[in-house]
Amino acid sequence: MATSTMNLFQQAQAGKYAIPAFNVHNLEITKAVLETAEEMQSPVLLAATPGTVKYVGEEFLIGIMEAAKKKYSIPFDVHLDHHENVEDIKRMIDMGVGSVMIDASHHSFEENIKIVQDVVDYARPKGVLVEAELGRLSGIEDDMSVDEKDAIYTNPDQAREFVERTGIDTLAVAIGTAHGLYKGEPKLDLERLKEIREVVDIPLVLHGASGIPDALVHETIHLGICKVNVATELKNAYVAGLRNYLSAHVDENDPRKYFSEAIEDLKKVVESKITMCQSAQKA
Ligand code: 13P
Ligand code: ZN
Ligand code: NA
Repeated sequence: MATSTMNLFQQAQAGKYAIPAFNVHNLEITKAVLETAEEMQSPVLLAATPGTVKYVGEEFLIGIMEAAKKKYSIPFDVHLDHHENVEDIKRMIDMGVGSVMIDASHHSFEENIKIVQDVVDYARPKGVLVEAELGRLSGIEDDMSVDEKDAIYTNPDQAREFVERTGIDTLAVAIGTAHGLYKGEPKLDLERLKEIREVVDIPLVLHGASGIPDALVHETIHLGICKVNVATELKNAYVAGLRNYLSAHVDENDPRKYFSEAIEDLKKVVESKITMCQSAQKA
Protein backbone atom coordinates (compact mmCIF):
# COMPACT_ATOMS: atom_id res chain seq x y z
CA MET A 1 0.00 0.00 0.00
CA ALA A 2 2.61 2.53 1.06
CA THR A 3 5.14 1.46 -1.55
CA SER A 4 2.47 2.07 -4.16
CA THR A 5 1.89 5.55 -2.71
CA MET A 6 5.60 6.31 -3.26
CA ASN A 7 5.14 5.05 -6.83
CA LEU A 8 2.26 7.50 -7.23
CA PHE A 9 4.56 10.36 -6.35
CA GLN A 10 7.29 9.14 -8.65
CA GLN A 11 4.81 8.93 -11.51
CA ALA A 12 3.40 12.37 -10.67
CA GLN A 13 6.90 13.85 -10.56
CA ALA A 14 7.82 12.32 -13.91
CA GLY A 15 4.48 13.21 -15.52
CA LYS A 16 4.36 16.78 -14.10
CA TYR A 17 1.05 16.48 -12.32
CA ALA A 18 0.18 16.39 -8.61
CA ILE A 19 -1.61 14.02 -6.27
CA PRO A 20 -4.46 15.91 -4.59
CA ALA A 21 -4.70 15.48 -0.81
CA PHE A 22 -8.16 16.34 0.49
CA ASN A 23 -8.82 16.85 4.18
CA VAL A 24 -11.76 14.66 5.20
CA HIS A 25 -13.74 14.85 8.43
CA ASN A 26 -16.49 12.26 8.32
CA LEU A 27 -17.85 9.32 6.34
CA GLU A 28 -19.93 11.46 3.97
CA ILE A 29 -16.97 13.64 2.96
CA THR A 30 -14.66 10.64 2.63
CA LYS A 31 -17.13 8.87 0.33
CA ALA A 32 -17.72 12.02 -1.72
CA VAL A 33 -13.96 12.42 -2.29
CA LEU A 34 -13.47 8.76 -3.21
CA GLU A 35 -16.51 8.62 -5.50
CA THR A 36 -15.35 11.69 -7.41
CA ALA A 37 -11.80 10.39 -7.64
CA GLU A 38 -13.09 7.03 -8.87
CA GLU A 39 -15.29 8.71 -11.50
CA MET A 40 -12.29 10.72 -12.71
CA GLN A 41 -9.80 7.86 -12.27
CA SER A 42 -7.54 10.01 -10.13
CA PRO A 43 -5.21 8.80 -7.37
CA VAL A 44 -5.94 10.65 -4.14
CA LEU A 45 -4.87 11.05 -0.52
CA LEU A 46 -7.36 11.35 2.32
CA ALA A 47 -5.77 13.72 4.80
CA ALA A 48 -6.60 13.60 8.49
CA THR A 49 -5.31 16.18 10.98
CA PRO A 50 -4.96 15.31 14.69
CA GLY A 51 -8.31 17.03 15.28
CA THR A 52 -9.96 14.84 12.66
CA VAL A 53 -8.39 11.63 13.96
CA LYS A 54 -9.70 12.53 17.42
CA TYR A 55 -13.15 13.38 16.03
CA VAL A 56 -13.51 10.29 13.82
CA GLY A 57 -11.64 7.89 16.12
CA GLU A 58 -8.50 5.97 15.09
CA GLU A 59 -10.27 2.63 14.71
CA PHE A 60 -13.06 4.13 12.59
CA LEU A 61 -10.57 5.96 10.38
CA ILE A 62 -8.68 2.72 9.69
CA GLY A 63 -11.95 0.80 9.35
CA ILE A 64 -13.31 3.25 6.77
CA MET A 65 -10.03 3.05 4.84
CA GLU A 66 -10.06 -0.76 4.84
CA ALA A 67 -13.70 -0.89 3.72
CA ALA A 68 -12.98 1.70 1.02
CA LYS A 69 -10.05 -0.38 -0.29
CA LYS A 70 -12.55 -3.09 -1.13
CA LYS A 71 -15.02 -0.72 -2.76
CA TYR A 72 -12.83 1.59 -4.88
CA SER A 73 -10.30 0.60 -7.51
CA ILE A 74 -8.27 3.85 -7.60
CA PRO A 75 -5.01 4.05 -5.64
CA PHE A 76 -5.49 6.02 -2.42
CA ASP A 77 -4.15 6.16 1.11
CA VAL A 78 -5.00 7.77 4.41
CA HIS A 79 -2.40 10.43 5.14
CA LEU A 80 -1.82 11.91 8.61
CA ASP A 81 -1.71 15.68 8.08
CA HIS A 82 0.18 18.08 10.40
CA HIS A 83 0.74 15.53 13.12
CA GLU A 84 3.11 16.67 15.84
CA ASN A 85 2.95 13.80 18.30
CA VAL A 86 5.51 11.12 17.37
CA GLU A 87 3.89 8.45 19.54
CA ASP A 88 0.50 9.01 17.86
CA ILE A 89 2.15 8.70 14.45
CA LYS A 90 3.92 5.45 15.37
CA ARG A 91 0.74 3.94 16.76
CA MET A 92 -1.23 4.83 13.63
CA ILE A 93 1.53 3.43 11.41
CA ASP A 94 1.13 0.16 13.32
CA MET A 95 -2.60 0.35 12.66
CA GLY A 96 -2.05 0.58 8.91
CA VAL A 97 -1.71 4.24 7.88
CA GLY A 98 0.58 4.37 4.85
CA SER A 99 1.53 8.04 4.67
CA VAL A 100 2.32 10.51 7.46
CA MET A 101 3.34 14.12 7.92
CA ILE A 102 5.44 14.89 10.97
CA ASP A 103 5.12 18.63 11.44
CA ALA A 104 7.96 19.80 13.67
CA SER A 105 8.36 23.01 11.68
CA HIS A 106 7.75 25.17 14.75
CA HIS A 107 10.89 23.75 16.41
CA SER A 108 14.47 24.86 15.77
CA PHE A 109 16.17 23.49 12.64
CA GLU A 110 18.19 20.93 14.63
CA GLU A 111 15.24 19.88 16.77
CA ASN A 112 13.04 19.56 13.66
CA ILE A 113 15.66 17.24 12.10
CA LYS A 114 15.89 15.11 15.25
CA ILE A 115 12.12 14.63 15.55
CA VAL A 116 11.71 13.88 11.84
CA GLN A 117 14.61 11.37 11.87
CA ASP A 118 12.87 9.49 14.66
CA VAL A 119 9.71 9.13 12.53
CA VAL A 120 11.66 8.19 9.37
CA ASP A 121 13.57 5.49 11.31
CA TYR A 122 10.24 4.01 12.39
CA ALA A 123 8.39 4.40 9.09
CA ARG A 124 11.08 3.40 6.58
CA PRO A 125 11.29 -0.34 7.40
CA LYS A 126 7.50 -0.51 7.20
CA GLY A 127 7.42 1.20 3.80
CA VAL A 128 5.45 4.16 5.14
CA LEU A 129 5.87 7.51 3.41
CA VAL A 130 7.07 10.47 5.50
CA GLU A 131 6.44 14.14 4.73
CA ALA A 132 7.99 16.91 6.82
CA GLU A 133 7.88 20.70 6.65
CA LEU A 134 10.55 23.33 6.69
CA GLY A 135 9.36 26.91 7.12
CA ARG A 136 5.92 27.92 8.42
CA LEU A 137 2.64 28.74 6.73
CA SER A 138 0.41 31.46 8.13
CA GLY A 139 -3.32 30.95 8.62
CA ILE A 140 -5.48 28.44 10.47
CA GLU A 141 -5.47 24.64 10.17
CA ASP A 142 -6.99 22.42 12.84
CA ASP A 143 -6.10 23.90 16.26
CA MET A 144 -3.02 25.59 14.87
CA SER A 145 -3.09 29.29 14.09
CA VAL A 146 -0.07 31.19 12.76
CA ASP A 147 0.02 34.96 12.36
CA GLU A 148 1.12 36.38 9.02
CA LYS A 149 4.10 38.05 10.69
CA ASP A 150 5.24 34.68 12.08
CA ALA A 151 5.23 32.89 8.72
CA ILE A 152 8.68 31.68 7.61
CA TYR A 153 9.57 30.95 3.99
CA THR A 154 11.52 27.75 3.28
CA ASN A 155 15.23 28.41 2.89
CA PRO A 156 16.64 26.45 -0.11
CA ASP A 157 20.06 25.72 1.47
CA GLN A 158 18.43 24.52 4.67
CA ALA A 159 15.97 22.47 2.61
CA ARG A 160 18.82 20.56 0.96
CA GLU A 161 20.47 19.81 4.30
CA PHE A 162 17.09 18.95 5.88
CA VAL A 163 16.23 16.41 3.17
CA GLU A 164 19.72 14.87 3.21
CA ARG A 165 19.89 14.48 6.97
CA THR A 166 16.31 13.31 7.60
CA GLY A 167 15.83 11.00 4.62
CA ILE A 168 12.19 12.11 4.20
CA ASP A 169 10.17 11.10 1.13
CA THR A 170 8.40 14.41 0.47
CA LEU A 171 9.05 17.99 1.60
CA ALA A 172 6.35 20.56 2.43
CA VAL A 173 7.47 24.07 1.51
CA ALA A 174 6.31 27.51 2.63
CA ILE A 175 6.51 29.95 -0.29
CA GLY A 176 3.96 32.60 0.65
CA THR A 177 1.29 29.94 1.00
CA ALA A 178 -1.31 30.16 3.78
CA HIS A 179 -3.89 27.84 5.31
CA GLY A 180 -7.41 29.11 4.72
CA LEU A 181 -8.38 31.71 2.12
CA TYR A 182 -6.06 34.56 1.12
CA LYS A 183 -6.58 38.26 1.64
CA GLY A 184 -6.49 39.34 -1.99
CA GLU A 185 -4.51 37.47 -4.64
CA PRO A 186 -1.99 35.03 -3.17
CA LYS A 187 1.59 35.97 -3.98
CA LEU A 188 3.77 32.91 -4.21
CA ASP A 189 7.55 33.07 -4.31
CA LEU A 190 8.05 30.92 -7.42
CA GLU A 191 11.71 31.92 -7.65
CA ARG A 192 12.26 30.37 -4.23
CA LEU A 193 10.41 27.21 -5.28
CA LYS A 194 12.70 26.99 -8.30
CA GLU A 195 15.78 27.38 -6.07
CA ILE A 196 14.49 24.64 -3.75
CA ARG A 197 13.83 22.35 -6.73
CA GLU A 198 17.40 22.88 -7.97
CA VAL A 199 18.87 21.48 -4.74
CA VAL A 200 16.14 19.04 -3.61
CA ASP A 201 15.03 16.21 -5.88
CA ILE A 202 12.26 14.57 -3.81
CA PRO A 203 8.59 15.42 -4.47
CA LEU A 204 7.56 18.80 -3.00
CA VAL A 205 4.24 19.48 -1.26
CA LEU A 206 2.06 22.58 -1.57
CA HIS A 207 0.03 23.29 1.56
CA GLY A 208 -2.70 25.91 1.73
CA ALA A 209 -3.97 25.39 -1.82
CA SER A 210 -7.47 26.71 -1.07
CA GLY A 211 -7.70 30.16 -2.64
CA ILE A 212 -4.80 29.73 -5.06
CA PRO A 213 -5.91 30.17 -8.71
CA ASP A 214 -5.52 27.06 -10.88
CA ALA A 215 -3.03 28.74 -13.22
CA LEU A 216 -0.72 29.54 -10.31
CA VAL A 217 -0.98 25.97 -8.96
CA HIS A 218 -0.03 24.76 -12.46
CA GLU A 219 3.12 26.86 -12.29
CA THR A 220 4.05 25.32 -8.93
CA ILE A 221 3.46 21.82 -10.32
CA HIS A 222 5.74 22.66 -13.19
CA LEU A 223 8.37 23.68 -10.61
CA GLY A 224 8.25 20.41 -8.67
CA ILE A 225 5.06 20.33 -6.59
CA CYS A 226 3.75 16.74 -6.60
CA LYS A 227 1.14 16.90 -3.81
CA VAL A 228 -1.46 19.64 -3.36
CA ASN A 229 -3.33 19.98 -0.04
CA VAL A 230 -6.91 21.25 -0.08
CA ALA A 231 -9.01 21.69 3.07
CA THR A 232 -10.84 25.01 3.41
CA GLU A 233 -12.61 25.14 0.03
CA LEU A 234 -14.09 21.70 0.72
CA LYS A 235 -15.34 22.73 4.15
CA ASN A 236 -16.79 25.94 2.73
CA ALA A 237 -18.68 24.14 -0.06
CA TYR A 238 -20.01 21.51 2.34
CA VAL A 239 -21.34 23.97 4.90
CA ALA A 240 -22.78 26.28 2.21
CA GLY A 241 -24.67 23.34 0.68
CA LEU A 242 -25.97 22.33 4.10
CA ARG A 243 -27.07 25.88 4.98
CA ASN A 244 -28.74 26.26 1.62
CA TYR A 245 -30.64 23.02 1.95
CA LEU A 246 -31.75 23.66 5.51
CA SER A 247 -32.91 27.19 4.80
CA ALA A 248 -35.05 25.88 1.92
CA HIS A 249 -36.30 22.88 3.95
CA VAL A 250 -36.59 24.17 7.50
CA ASP A 251 -38.53 21.15 8.75
CA GLU A 252 -36.27 18.47 7.26
CA ASN A 253 -34.90 16.19 9.98
CA ASP A 254 -33.43 13.38 7.87
CA PRO A 255 -29.62 13.47 7.62
CA ARG A 256 -29.82 11.29 4.52
CA LYS A 257 -31.63 14.18 2.88
CA TYR A 258 -30.19 17.34 4.43
CA PHE A 259 -26.60 16.36 3.61
CA SER A 260 -27.46 15.74 -0.06
CA GLU A 261 -26.74 19.24 -1.37
CA ALA A 262 -23.64 19.58 0.83
CA ILE A 263 -22.25 16.36 -0.67
CA GLU A 264 -23.02 17.42 -4.25
CA ASP A 265 -21.42 20.84 -3.73
CA LEU A 266 -18.35 19.28 -2.13
CA LYS A 267 -18.00 16.83 -5.03
CA LYS A 268 -17.89 19.75 -7.48
CA VAL A 269 -14.95 21.26 -5.60
CA VAL A 270 -13.17 17.89 -5.52
CA GLU A 271 -13.71 17.57 -9.28
CA SER A 272 -12.31 21.01 -10.01
CA LYS A 273 -9.26 20.39 -7.78
CA ILE A 274 -8.54 17.04 -9.45
CA THR A 275 -8.72 18.87 -12.78
CA MET A 276 -6.38 21.53 -11.36
CA CYS A 277 -3.89 18.85 -10.25
CA GLN A 278 -4.12 17.22 -13.71
CA SER A 279 -4.33 13.85 -11.97
CA ALA A 280 -7.47 12.59 -13.75
CA GLN A 281 -6.96 9.33 -15.68
CA LYS A 282 -3.70 8.72 -13.80
CA ALA A 283 -5.09 6.03 -11.51
P1 13P B 1 -6.17 25.03 2.78
O1 13P B 1 -7.13 24.98 3.92
O2 13P B 1 -5.70 26.41 2.47
O3 13P B 1 -6.70 24.32 1.59
O4 13P B 1 -4.86 24.23 3.24
C1 13P B 1 -4.93 22.83 3.37
C2 13P B 1 -3.69 22.24 3.95
O5 13P B 1 -2.58 22.71 3.79
C3 13P B 1 -3.85 20.99 4.73
O6 13P B 1 -2.64 20.55 5.25
ZN1 ZN C 1 -1.27 22.17 5.64
NA1 NA D 1 -5.09 28.43 1.48
